[in-house]
Amino acid sequence: MNRAVLDSIRNAAPGILPSLLQCDFGNLQTEVERLVAAGTEVLHLDVMDGHFVPNLTYGMPIVEGLRRHTDLPLDVHLMISDPLAYAQPMVDAGADLLTFHIEAVDSAEHAARVAHSIREMGVGAGVAINPETSMDTLGDCLDEVDMVLVMSVQAGFGGQSFNPIALDRIRQLRQRYPELLIEIDGGINLETIGRARQAGCDLFVVGSAIFGQDDYSAAIASLGRAMVDEMISDSVATDESGDSR
Ligand code: DX5
Ligand code: ZN
Repeated sequence: MNRAVLDSIRNAAPGILPSLLQCDFGNLQTEVERLVAAGTEVLHLDVMDGHFVPNLTYGMPIVEGLRRHTDLPLDVHLMISDPLAYAQPMVDAGADLLTFHIEAVDSAEHAARVAHSIREMGVGAGVAINPETSMDTLGDCLDEVDMVLVMSVQAGFGGQSFNPIALDRIRQLRQRYPELLIEIDGGINLETIGRARQAGCDLFVVGSAIFGQDDYSAAIASLGRAMVDEMISDSVATDESGDSR
């Protein structure tokens, strides 16, 4: 298990992870350079199979191509029906953290086995959950993973609106698993990032709010400020109300 890369992902928290779903795929190298110049520490890659979700994106060749252009950790979000069928090829292509969906496996026990197999391949394992899926389906599998990805949109497309159900989920998870790495994905922008941070989230996947802007550095810097501002305004409000912290 490559703990060093997993540690560098942990150390990026609280961190903004650009999702390369809406980038310019004709200029991937330039896109990565722009993101690195903007201070990106981890890249989020959305792999969709046209079956688990209705959208189809890319597979190992893009992951492998990115690996040749950057040393940044690659956080690969597998929106595919059979995660284990592609786990080893993804690791060989250069993935550092593989996140599969709880909806793609039969049970929490199955999820724990998939996570165990992924970890045996020498990378981190994450489990993702869609907003419409009950948290009960996760069972005890969170004891076996390095990260939980709380979806704040139904997996499949960029540019959807944020579903606040994710905030309650993050709060509950943070309380129950103080050390667990928690990531949020979908509809994260200047209005929502602070609320997610306040709820206890570590990693924030962002697509439209970066790639819809001309200046990635300015977009990422604004998101970073919005994340912190909410924490500050919250602590001021708590002080003023006289609550103990
Ligand atoms: C959705 C993907 C996301 C998506 C986020 O299924 O997992 O990573 O690209 O895009 P925005 O930030 O536009 O919601
Ligand atoms: Zn994603």
